[in-house]
Amino acid sequence: MSDIDIIESDIIAAITNIRSLDELDALRVAELGKKGRVTGLMKQLGKMSPDERKVMGPRLNQLKTNLSSAIESRKTVLETDALERQLKSEQIDLTLPAPPEPVGALHPVMQVFEELSAIFGDMGFAVAEGPDIEDDWHNFTALNFPAGHPARETHDTFFFSPQGDNLAKVLRTHTSPVQIRTMTENKPPIRIIAPGRVYRNDWDATHTPMFHQIEGLVVEKGIHMGHLKGCLIDFVKAFFEVDTVEARFRPHFFPFTEPSAEMDVKCDRSGGTVKIGQGDDWLEVLGSGMIHPNVLRNCGIDPDEYQGFAFGLGVDRLAMLKYGMPDLRPYFEADPNWTQHYGFRPWLTPSVSGGLSE
Ligand code: DAH
Repeated sequence: MSDIDIIESDIIAAITNIRSLDELDALRVAELGKKGRVTGLMKQLGKMSPDERKVMGPRLNQLKTNLSSAIESRKTVLETDALERQLKSEQIDLTLPAPPEPVGALHPVMQVFEELSAIFGDMGFAVAEGPDIEDDWHNFTALNFPAGHPARETHDTFFFSPQGDNLAKVLRTHTSPVQIRTMTENKPPIRIIAPGRVYRNDWDATHTPMFHQIEGLVVEKGIHMGHLKGCLIDFVKAFFEVDTVEARFRPHFFPFTEPSAEMDVKCDRSGGTVKIGQGDDWLEVLGSGMIHPNVLRNCGIDPDEYQGFAFGLGVDRLAMLKYGMPDLRPYFEADPNWTQHYGFRPWLTPSVSGGLSE
């Protein structure tokens, strides 16, 4: 075996053992570069006789070609390996199951707000809002509670410290002030509901210092008690998802309505739960009445031209009745187990046509 053959097989063996592109490049420089063994052999050509050179020249060229192509093919192998390793490390298994459904549930009070908006929205009511911190005028005076009127005291109001000569602001004790805001800012015809938080100094199994109400207000020409009854009976049927309901309107007193009535519906209390639309018991569901002429006047509406009705109901209690929660206090304790148990899937928006509750 000639020196050339030995060098060739030596280098080819080294190339075959190489594991990385960097090492391969280092070998190429070492063997084929200026100081390499192959260049050393080429340099000897000059010292050879023409006859020797004729034989050795092509052989050395052949050696260079063989080594270059061995390096090239090793390079391809190493590059392919590297690519495969990278693809494997970045692989995504598309057959993995989707992540679990997000935990969290819509609070029953929010669900009932959604249901009420769907029902009244279907009857042409818009949603109105007002501030939680109210002044005395909107919360009481404009609603026909004169100063010193005993009805103010039944509200167990939370008062702020008075500022200057102004009467103390209050945490609104009901959603009725939104009636005043709506009637002063809009011309009739008006048809709104006002859902929101209200506050009273009270705390037991059925009362919490913050609770939720929804107010309803209709002001149009020629509105009478028949409209009030029809609207509220339709509402109760839609809300409790029953075909018939027997209702009675019991005379009552509210300063802002005249006449005023509380609405009761027939229910069945046997078996520990309350079933609406059947049975022989009565259940009070809301307060209502024809808007007092003083209230219309306080808002710049002429009571000889326009009439209206209003109603207000406790949303927390309504949710208790419909979904069977026995106690009001856990509503506000933020216990995730309770919310998981009584809560609703947030993306199922209630609608009259698509279903209110699932
Ligand atoms: N604001 C009353 C309350 O909190 C509820 C109410 C009764 C509202 C009769 C009304 C109504 O609009 O007409 O007790």
